[in-house]
Amino acid sequence: MSKSKEVVSSAIPASVEPVRIAVIGCGYVGLVAAVCFAEIGHSVICIDSDAEKIECLQQGRIPIHEPWLEELLRSQNPTSLRFSTSLADAVRASQVVFIAVGTPPLESGDADLSYVEAVAVEIARSIDSYKVVVEKSTVPVYTSDWIARVLRRNGVRPGEADIVSNPEFLREGTAVTDFLYPDRIIIGTCSDRAFRIMERIYRPLIDGSYSRRPSAVTLFSNETRQATLLRTSAKSAELIKHASNAFLAMKISFINSVANLCEQVNANVEEVARGIGLDRRIGSQFLRPGLGYGGSCFPKDIKAFYSIGEQMGAELTLLREVERINERQRDHFLRKVRSTLWNLRGKHLAVLGLAFKGGTDDIRESPALSLVKSLIGEGATITAFDPAAMANARRAIVSPRLELAESALQAMDGADALLILTDWPEFASLDLSEVKARLAQPIVFDGRNLYHPAVMAERGFTYVSIGRAAVEAATEPSELHSAATPYRVA
Ligand code: UDX
Repeated sequence: MSKSKEVVSSAIPASVEPVRIAVIGCGYVGLVAAVCFAEIGHSVICIDSDAEKIECLQQGRIPIHEPWLEELLRSQNPTSLRFSTSLADAVRASQVVFIAVGTPPLESGDADLSYVEAVAVEIARSIDSYKVVVEKSTVPVYTSDWIARVLRRNGVRPGEADIVSNPEFLREGTAVTDFLYPDRIIIGTCSDRAFRIMERIYRPLIDGSYSRRPSAVTLFSNETRQATLLRTSAKSAELIKHASNAFLAMKISFINSVANLCEQVNANVEEVARGIGLDRRIGSQFLRPGLGYGGSCFPKDIKAFYSIGEQMGAELTLLREVERINERQRDHFLRKVRSTLWNLRGKHLAVLGLAFKGGTDDIRESPALSLVKSLIGEGATITAFDPAAMANARRAIVSPRLELAESALQAMDGADALLILTDWPEFASLDLSEVKARLAQPIVFDGRNLYHPAVMAERGFTYVSIGRAAVEAATEPSELHSAATPYRVA
């Protein structure tokens, strides 16, 4: 993003015909969608049953760490974006109702759809005129059929509501720009009437007019971007969401497997990933090797997608392997730490990064957090730093062996080694002389490949990363052992 959003109440260009929208659920997806719908010119009421959360939002405060969101929230006028706990009032006041409630995983791996059902029942009881009901939560195929059934069972007459599946593809940390500059907008519905209204909602993103506004949030490239609109059946739209996430997770597990092979044969996975990614059929994104994927979506969605396939008699066995590779990736990293440091009991380690990826305070399914737990379990003490996720980590790990530092450098004071576990940009530009001066031993384990092995060796570090030969101070990388063999630390 090259320029800050100015707080201007610019006249809405002619391409926007404001639509009255209710968004049910002020979680990640709901909140970003509500704020962005208001930003592109619609009139939005966002609903949540959590009165405390609603009060906080009414005061212009955002309960999550997400760039742009608070700024955009504060720049909306009170008629374009409101927050309330009254679902019935919001439904009556709106033409389109987005369901964006949570779908947490059950023990079985299936998504828990009870919140979706409860909201559908409430919507049905509140409907007083034609509504488009949109599923925005990540849901399994057939959910739109179920929502239609629940509406009918609760008194909604044919023609009084149409159902649309409109999945989101927002990444934490870039959710606002992902929303405002999407690659594609999927609208899954069999109703022409509902499709026309949905098209109206997204028109400023489809025709690029949003990006031309002087006050628009801009991308780095400052380009005008138009999203591709794709109309599908509701079932296809539901599958597109799960299949997209599964494919991206598969890419990550693929490159992590290749990284392990690179370690065995002394090749460099960064070079291999670049070589693969330059083929436009493959693409360079989601080929960053590391500690495996985490977060609130990939692990949950892969399980849910696998489970659907199994139930439908079309088992997606490939996804089992994607999961297995992902789990093994952390163990593999832990083995490298052990084989370099020998005993972990009594060692003091500096950890940079607790969030599941850089740019967020979210620690759900975080590989970093899971590694910290393992290291503590093996008797190490940890001093950790994360720019945003420390409060969440403190709640998740209650142990006298975990201390939190006030800065990245402070975490390193007197540590036997440094572990970089999350790819925050600031961790990629550390003052290496300062790092060396603070560590008791100049040993760095980089689970995100933020540094070059040759540079680290030159700067006097023993440096162990992913899919690249480990190096020791002032030694040529090519002469060193691969990560698969036990490390010989002098
Ligand atoms: C993901 C999807 O990208 C998004 O479209 C969907 O709506 C929600 O789930 P998110 O979970 O926010 O978004 O994060 P993402 O940036 O996709 O990363 C997911 C995980 O994969 C992170 O742990 C990240 O560190 C890891 N990752 C990502 C890699 O290990 N390598 C990569 O090349 C990319």
